[in-house]
Amino acid sequence: MEIIRTSNYDAMSKQACDLIIETVQQLERPVLGLATGSTPEGLYQQLMERHENGDVSFKDVKTFNLDEYVGLASDDPNSYRYYMNNKLFHHIDLSDDQAFLPKGDVSDLEQECQDYEAMIRKAGQVDLQVLGLGLNGHIGFNEPGTSFDSRTHVVDLDESTRKANARFFESMDDVPKKAITMGIETIMESRKIVLLVSGEKKADAVRQLVNGEVTEEFPASVLQKHENVVLIADEGALSKL
Ligand code: F6R
Repeated sequence: MEIIRTSNYDAMSKQACDLIIETVQQLERPVLGLATGSTPEGLYQQLMERHENGDVSFKDVKTFNLDEYVGLASDDPNSYRYYMNNKLFHHIDLSDDQAFLPKGDVSDLEQECQDYEAMIRKAGQVDLQVLGLGLNGHIGFNEPGTSFDSRTHVVDLDESTRKANARFFESMDDVPKKAITMGIETIMESRKIVLLVSGEKKADAVRQLVNGEVTEEFPASVLQKHENVVLIADEGALSKL
């Protein structure tokens, strides 16, 4: 695992932005895997700015997000589709039919999981997957105990994850209990993985990710087995290495 140490959050976002632009410029039909949460917000801001400056076009790009809450429609301000539209998609030259997220408001969730896998396959697999890191080691919404062989599936969210995400909702009761997430095996099939981590509160998780045992009890540890992972993290996040 390559580790890029940055002085702060903005520098982390800039490094990630440069890597994504490099991939988009190198490939004819780039496929990006994207994440939501607080961590990639700075990256998306930088991508928007670089697009506005004419440095990068997304017209040949396809994107697949890691996850979506079950039960929220795409126009719900807490859905990940809404987040992505708002923070990135609607500010760059990427139309709705190039940008995919699992649909959390369909009646047949199992079918949706299979369809999502099929769409990723059809696009030729993810070239560069952006990941954030959960405090409990989750990647996507693959919580501790998820099989390393998992494909896109429906998950029950951990109480700790619901609490960590409650800041975006009016009350804890409004935080969905289920989500659809790309599976760990799906994520591991990406050609390159860029893991972004910022802040001291993630320092223990980073230590476990880099130096800990590879175990399903700490899903992110599986990344030790991937041949092309770049961890971009700031001083705080790396403070316990
Ligand atoms: C989001 C996702 C999650 C987050 C993780 C960290 O699509 O898949 O795994 O990356 O929960 O979240 P933040 O960045 O808010 O600390």
